[in-house]
Amino acid sequence: MNRSEKIMQKNPEQSAAGGFRRKDVRKIKKAAAEEKAAPAALDREQDKDFFGQTLSAKEVNLWYSSFQALKNISMEVPEKKITALIGPSGCGKSTFLKCFNRMNDLVPGCRVEGSFFIGKTDIYGRTDVNLLRKNVGMVFQKPNPFPMSVYDNIAYGPRTFGIRRRAELDRIVEDSLQKAAMWEELKDRLDRPALGLSGGQQQRLCIARALAVAPGVLLMDEPTSALDPISTGKIEELCCELAKSTTIVIVTHNMQQAARISDKTGFFLLGELVEFGNTDDIFTAPRDERTERYITGRFG
Ligand SMILES: Nc1ncnc2c1ncn2[C@@H]1O[C@H](COP(=O)(O)OP(=O)(O)OP(=O)(O)O)[C@@H](O)[C@H]1O
Ligand SMILES: [Mg+2]
Repeated sequence: MNRSEKIMQKNPEQSAAGGFRRKDVRKIKKAAAEEKAAPAALDREQDKDFFGQTLSAKEVNLWYSSFQALKNISMEVPEKKITALIGPSGCGKSTFLKCFNRMNDLVPGCRVEGSFFIGKTDIYGRTDVNLLRKNVGMVFQKPNPFPMSVYDNIAYGPRTFGIRRRAELDRIVEDSLQKAAMWEELKDRLDRPALGLSGGQQQRLCIARALAVAPGVLLMDEPTSALDPISTGKIEELCCELAKSTTIVIVTHNMQQAARISDKTGFFLLGELVEFGNTDDIFTAPRDERTERYITGRFG
């Protein structure tokens, strides 16, 4: 229960009658305004209202100094589906993906034009970047567990957002590992160093770590390119399971993977989005000849 609700609960009669003392009304309004400005940590429902789970890019251009890496890109990514981004090396897939949690802000000389929305929120407008990144998790090609225990890796994000109670952290760690289909594998090794896990386990741990702050959107940049087929299969299964509640955008060089798991596919070439549509259509009846040549392996 938040503070404004507590004040109201203290005065149930007045509340029911619709009559509060002026002093209480002022207090409630102040508490509600503060709560709005700083949403409660890990309150998934509240964040979802704030951000939503659809992604939208409109007429996006991006430069690294004088080099234009993205050219007039517009894309509508549906919520709770898997969207794959494909295309040859250097065509701007990672650059585009990173725009959705403002990772490019950290690159000197990088300039972005156009608009990016998550739900109804303009994420390059007046947005709290920490809150944005809590809602938009990211998993990279190379697993990057922190040099600490499995438990502390997963608890890291929730702790950053102010969760201290051990029981609450225990619940989040178990829940996140369950979602990443790793609980059985790791429940007796929670205090072991994460860097001692295999590559595939490390990558799933990184996914679990991203899930620990309950993001509505998960961005994955070639998450399986360094993994064996069994680990790859586990991550693909995991993506399909997560997509029931999470919007996933995945960059992949693996055409079979894109065809297997994604609902939508976007084909990038030299900084342009050549084609975007339902995965089945892109792979069976591409409209653009360049898409066809790429997916049939004739260039790239
Ligand atoms: N930090 C940076 N500074 C300058 N140029 C960059 C930077 N990051 C990327 N680029 C350039 O922008 C273009 C797009 O790069 P990006 O990493 O988005 O491609 P990609 O499609 O993800 O490629 P890959 O499949 O190899 O990962 C490339 O020409 C790259 O050299
Ligand atoms: Mg890339």
